[in-house]
Amino acid sequence: MKTIFSGIQPSGTITLGNYIGALKQFVELQNDYNCFFCIVDQHAITVPQDPAILRKNIRSLAALYLAVGIDPDKATLFIQSEVPAHAQAGWLMQCVAYIGELERMTQFKDKSAGKEAVSASLLTYPPLMAADILLYNTDLVPVGEDQKQHLELTRDLAERFNKKYNDILTIPEISIPKVGARIMSLQEPTKKMSKSDPNQKASITLLDDPKQMEKKIKSAVTDSEGIVKFDRETKPGISNLLSIYSILGGKSIPELEAMYHGKGYGDFKGELAEVVVNFFKPIQEKYYNLLESSELDEILDRGAEKANAVASKTLKKMERAMGIGRKRK
Ligand code: AQP
Repeated sequence: MKTIFSGIQPSGTITLGNYIGALKQFVELQNDYNCFFCIVDQHAITVPQDPAILRKNIRSLAALYLAVGIDPDKATLFIQSEVPAHAQAGWLMQCVAYIGELERMTQFKDKSAGKEAVSASLLTYPPLMAADILLYNTDLVPVGEDQKQHLELTRDLAERFNKKYNDILTIPEISIPKVGARIMSLQEPTKKMSKSDPNQKASITLLDDPKQMEKKIKSAVTDSEGIVKFDRETKPGISNLLSIYSILGGKSIPELEAMYHGKGYGDFKGELAEVVVNFFKPIQEKYYNLLESSELDEILDRGAEKANAVASKTLKKMERAMGIGRKRK
């Protein structure tokens, strides 16, 4: 079986974008791959976080992974900071990366723009992400389109490491969904939907109640034309809503365009809200049952143990190849 690794930051409640771009794929892939799914809490602290909220978000994200359908008997679910090899291998990858290439990452540019104090870790985020992936001898990384650049850098760093030291790292492939790889903000449809967006109306989270979901969809920015038609260039708002409807409602975009031919955005948005609410209702029920359960802790303990066993082996190989540590007599 080939191996998959992917992670999500507990930097807020996950959004429809995270679900469609990442989690939905994870659930489908877990049947055919040896999967490692990670709550990347060390990545979350590259920007300021309230410690109490972060702790809550970590547990909440773990419960959401399971509620959307990750099966702990098929996939390994764990928290990054509970597997020390990540931070250790992250340091090794920093020693392989160049500052210039890190400064060119668009996520670094976006998240540091206009800020007075930017943590060094925001710049060195990609080498840690590379370590996350490479520790598991990962063949495939399912992510949304926004992570493509980081994944390309991961491949470059792994190739550089292999060439310089020893051919020990697996070069991972990137898997980006064909539809829904980039779900956009409901308020600024040319910007991606993000869980840390301070504008609450911009994203639908998996834990919004039905009224909030309906309100957000009804106030989503569209255009004045009033025609339900997919065109990312000239109609980004309605195109984004069509993508969401198509993926969660199981209908193709041409089918939806035909269904709403001659109808206005009001009808379309009302029915889309119903689709979204009904889609997430059973997930939310499962989530609230799991959240306070000891089962969740047992799953995360087991996950950390399994992840540690694999990651520490790769770390040792990397350290040996780089010549650090002691050779025992
Ligand atoms: N809008 C999106 N559309 C499709 N996929 C998306 N992803 C994120 N936003 C969208 C995918 O979700 C996974 C988890 O992402 P992450 O938590 O590691 O960080 P991110 O990509 O920076 O996601 P956010 O929601 O924007 O988080 P914040 O606000 O904390 O930066 C990844 O596979 C990502 O591609």
